[in-house]
Amino acid sequence: MADSILVACATRYGSTQEVAEAITATLKKSGLQVDLRQLKNVKSLEGYGAVVVGAPLQMFKWHKDALGFLKRHQEALGRLPAAVFALGPMNDVEKEWNDVRGQLEKALAKFPWFAPVSVQVFGGKFDPATLRPPYSLLPAMKRLPVSDIRDWEAIAAWARELAVKFSPASAPVEG
Ligand SMILES: Cc1cc2nc3c(=O)[nH]c(=O)nc-3n(C[C@H](O)[C@H](O)[C@H](O)COP(=O)(O)O)c2cc1C
Repeated sequence: MADSILVACATRYGSTQEVAEAITATLKKSGLQVDLRQLKNVKSLEGYGAVVVGAPLQMFKWHKDALGFLKRHQEALGRLPAAVFALGPMNDVEKEWNDVRGQLEKALAKFPWFAPVSVQVFGGKFDPATLRPPYSLLPAMKRLPVSDIRDWEAIAAWARELAVKFSPASAPVEG
């Protein structure tokens, strides 16, 4: 496996971008070469040995750039090791986390050929003051409290696991 990793994300309000930056930093600390890019800007996966795809859930759907990325890069993603993360839950309530995992599974089920080595949901960040239309026009959304339940230790731990999975030393021996 080549040792260059692509971490590619989509973000609406910036919180997934910050998680992708933290994952990138941890992978780099593990000695891996890493590029961090926006999903929509990635034209080719040439030169990468593994890919991390991250995007938030919004209105029960995974970000369209993540879906577009999987469609566009089916050929390369069919042979490269890949990992997926999504931001979503805004409360530490088990049902909410299970629902969010269900939303992500449903999105990934549209790509039966895609077999990521790891799929992870992380808590999200929400601030009604930053909402844009049409959501900023919904009183019920404007009344929701500010929250940020991103667990930076869990994010770093997941990235350390990926570093092991993506390290050239852990690639299967051929022949
Ligand atoms: C309008 C809106 C709708 C959302 N809908 C969902 C949802 O359906 N499921 C979910 O898990 N999270 C939902 N979230 C939470 C976001 O996934 C969370 O805020 C995430 O951190 C946003 O990522 P971003 O800052 O990268 O855009 C929603 C957030 C907003 C603002």
